[in-house]
Formats: sequence, structure tokens, C-alpha cells
Amino acid sequence: MPTILITGGAGFIGSHLTTLLLSKGFSVVVLDNFSYGKRKFLPENNPSLHIHEVDILDKSALQTHFELYKPETVFHLAAIHHIPTCEQKPELAIRTNIEGTENIILAAQSVGVKRFIFASSGAVYEIVDEELKENSTPVVPHDIYSITKRAGEDLIRLYAERKVFKSVVCRLFNTVGSHETNAHLVPDILQQVLENKTEIALGNLSPLRSYIHVLDVAEAFATIGFQEFKNDFETFNIGTESEHSVADILQLIAEISGKALQAFQHPDRVRKVDRHRQRANLAKTTSLTGWSPKRSLKEALQDAYQEAIHV
Ligand SMILES: NC(=O)c1ccc[n+]([C@@H]2O[C@H](COP(=O)([O-])OP(=O)(O)OC[C@H]3O[C@@H](n4cnc5c(N)ncnc54)[C@H](O)[C@@H]3O)[C@@H](O)[C@H]2O)c1
Repeated sequence: MPTILITGGAGFIGSHLTTLLLSKGFSVVVLDNFSYGKRKFLPENNPSLHIHEVDILDKSALQTHFELYKPETVFHLAAIHHIPTCEQKPELAIRTNIEGTENIILAAQSVGVKRFIFASSGAVYEIVDEELKENSTPVVPHDIYSITKRAGEDLIRLYAERKVFKSVVCRLFNTVGSHETNAHLVPDILQQVLENKTEIALGNLSPLRSYIHVLDVAEAFATIGFQEFKNDFETFNIGTESEHSVADILQLIAEISGKALQAFQHPDRVRKVDRHRQRANLAKTTSLTGWSPKRSLKEALQDAYQEAIHV
């Protein structure tokens, strides 16, 4: 079986992808600086798994590991992903997400990587109410994170057009499940629930999102990452076509936890610029790849809740 390299493979999505690829018999190399990722998310004592603490800004360490393993396929997930962190530390986000992506591309090029899969985001789309298709209007950048993801996509497209490798950009929508590392909505609510609060402090309650189970995202990568497409560069939405509000999430967590939870909107948490909706259209993804999400938001929240209460 070919060797697969995953940057950010110890993170939320990366750790589930690593476990899934190991179960399919691949040899997996994880490069992660563990700024967010955790070793405990990864299987122990698996001879097919090679974990290395490497920063994607360290070109020489990247070169060493790419030469050592000569991976056939690279999944590039390492990034600064939390939007408020990107706003507070723009230099770190720009360096990690853009310069780091260029470093991975050059290391991949140097050892002849065949396929390059990039974790981009639904955040690259324009803020509009309509369903978002892969050919929807390109973003007018509205925050540091979306600028960096868009730039990462453009770099990868350029190298794919130069026939360095075939490449797929997966535009992920809001992902939910166990191993969450960033201070997103669900970990925030669960934290308050575990502190026995019943009045849950939240920001905007009405925005609608296409939440997706993290295992569905891992399966999407593991499916799409090994398919052949007509074009050297392809872009696919990875989300769901159902929509849920923040209030819906609180209601589901109340059902799962058996607690009577009520939202109160805390003025400090209300975002001044927010998308009212972020709806994925999956027509292209399902027709060209056959992949579609299988799990419900409630299952994803149950997994996150079970993990939170057992820590
Ligand atoms: N979680 C989501 O809802 C979501 C949505 C859209 C896109 N994405 C993208 O998917 C990818 C994975 O996201 P995630 O949710 O698993 O986040 P995550 O923060 O858990 O994963 C990122 C991983 O990259 C590692 N990392 C960060 N900087 C690094 C560096 N300089 N060198 C090496 N490793 C570094 C972190 O330690 C972490 O393990 C990211 O590229 C993110 O932008 C995620």
C-alpha cells in the first residue's frame, strides 16, 4: 500500500482521517507541531503510523521527512483555523496558512508526490444567502482566515496547472464531533454545560450553517483523495445540505444531556460581521465522487458530548 502523509494529522479532522486510512491498510506519516493537535487522538503502537513533531514553517525538517518517506499522496490539513485567533495573530496565520502551504508544495514537488489534497473552507465564499456552489462568486476577503485559505487554494491550483501533481481542494463546512481542538461553538456550549450552567452564554443565535460530522469529513477525504478526475485541479464542497441554527444546536445538546438549557445572548460574544447563512450545495461533489454525508448533527453532538463528559 502507498504511503500517505498528513500535515496536521494529530488535529481534530486529521486524527480521524489518520485512523481511517490506517484501518484501510495505508502506511501513514503524520507531521504536526502539536500546537493544537494531540498525540492521544492517534492510535498507539501501530507500526504503520509514523508521527513526527515538525513545524510546516521549518523547510529543512520538511525536506528530511519527505525524502525519508517519499509519500505518494499528501493531505495538507495543518493550519491556524480558529477565525478569532487568525484575527488576533494575523502574522502567524498568514505565515502558517500561506507560507506553510508553499513549503509543503515544494517539499511534495521535490519527491514527486502524485496527489495533493488541501483542506480549504466554505469561508472562501462570498457572504450571500444563496446555496454555495464550487463556481459561486469568489470571495471578497472578509477576514484573515478566508484570505489565507483562498491564497492556499490559488497556490495549489497554480502548481497543479504546471503539472507538478494532481490536486483536489476540499472546501469543508462547519465540522462537529470528537477531538475538537479549537474554541468553537460546540466545545464552548459543552464546557458551560459541564460547569452545570443552564443559562448558556452565546453570541448570534440565528445564523444557519451546514454542520457536518467529522467522520463524514474523514470519509470524504479518504474517498476523494484516491479518485481520478478529468482535471488536474478540482474543488469540492464537503458539508451537508441541511441547515441548523445555533439555537438548534443548543436544543439538541439539551436533549442529549437531559438538561434544561436556555440561551442568553451575551453582548461581548455577538459578532459584528457574521454570515446569516452558509449553505453547501453538494451536487458537484455527489455526482463526481459518489460521496455524500451519512450521519446526523445529533450523532456528531452525541460523540462530542460523550468525549467531554469522559475527560
Ligand atoms: N473544523 C472545521 O470546521 C473546518 C472547517 C473548514 C476548514 N477546516 C480546515 O481543516 C483543516 C483541519 O482543521 P481542524 O478543525 O482539524 O483544526 P485543528 O486545529 O485541530 O488541526 C490543525 C492541525 O495543524 C497543526 N498545526 C498548526 N500549525 C502548524 C504548523 N505550523 N506546523 C505543523 N502543524 C501545525 C495543529 O497542531 C493541528 O493538529 C484546517 O486546514 C482547517 O482550516 C476545518
